[in-house]
Amino acid sequence: MAERSRVLVFDSGFGGLSVVAEIRKAMPDAALTYLADTAVFPYGHLPEADIVARVAELMTVAVPRFAPQAIVIACNTASTLVLPDLRARFTIPIVGTVPAVKPAAERSRSRMASVLATPGTVKRDYTRQLIETHGQDCRFTLVGSQRLASLVEAEFAGETISDDDFGSEVMSCFVDDGDRRTDTVVLACTHYPLVLDRLKALAPWPVEWIDPAPAIARQIMRVTETVAVEGGGQGEDIFHATGRLPPDGLVQRFGFAGQEPFVI
Ligand code: DGL
Repeated sequence: MAERSRVLVFDSGFGGLSVVAEIRKAMPDAALTYLADTAVFPYGHLPEADIVARVAELMTVAVPRFAPQAIVIACNTASTLVLPDLRARFTIPIVGTVPAVKPAAERSRSRMASVLATPGTVKRDYTRQLIETHGQDCRFTLVGSQRLASLVEAEFAGETISDDDFGSEVMSCFVDDGDRRTDTVVLACTHYPLVLDRLKALAPWPVEWIDPAPAIARQIMRVTETVAVEGGGQGEDIFHATGRLPPDGLVQRFGFAGQEPFVI
């Protein structure tokens, strides 16, 4: 039997499941391990140095334990900070998730686009730099949502979230200056694509929503082709969490056999 690549997908919470869904489509045979830092979630409000230290601490335990061929940091809030540190620590390929500013600037016709993200991602030098380098002549509105990731997490844990709650978190993405209006919204937090149907229904006018997950899945496929597989693909696909675990049905919907606490 051919060896399978094992990929470790990391996020602060359940958001990385939007990336898992795309990896499963692109690489149906890949073995996936998920690690959610639900003990510390949400990262969007944490000081930058705390995020760098926390992700390094977790990966130092997770990489030898799970022996992945590649890691996906399926979290914009972390990726916009931790990638240089992680790449200095580990030799396996590490794929990050960062705001899809370049595709938005390429696709927007009105030249008005918004980046919907956590407050942390919106504040990052990395994000500002992306807009400077790849934003072309497009006018970007940065929208740092205080609660959207937590609302998604609550909805996935079984709570009912109202349209008003979701709507108030995204309305600032829609800018109309009289002559033109926003036509493109970058989903720059992995939690948001999980509720895309709700967001579409609440939008005051239709826009193109950009989810980077399919591109991340393609990148994972490319990098795992070049890495030797040494037994990492054995065993079941398990969802691990440092704190609160999701409901059973949820992880099974994304192809995991079960869930376990992650103890450092
Ligand atoms: N899913 C994470 C992201 O892509 C953020 C959620 C959080 O605030 O922890 O940015």
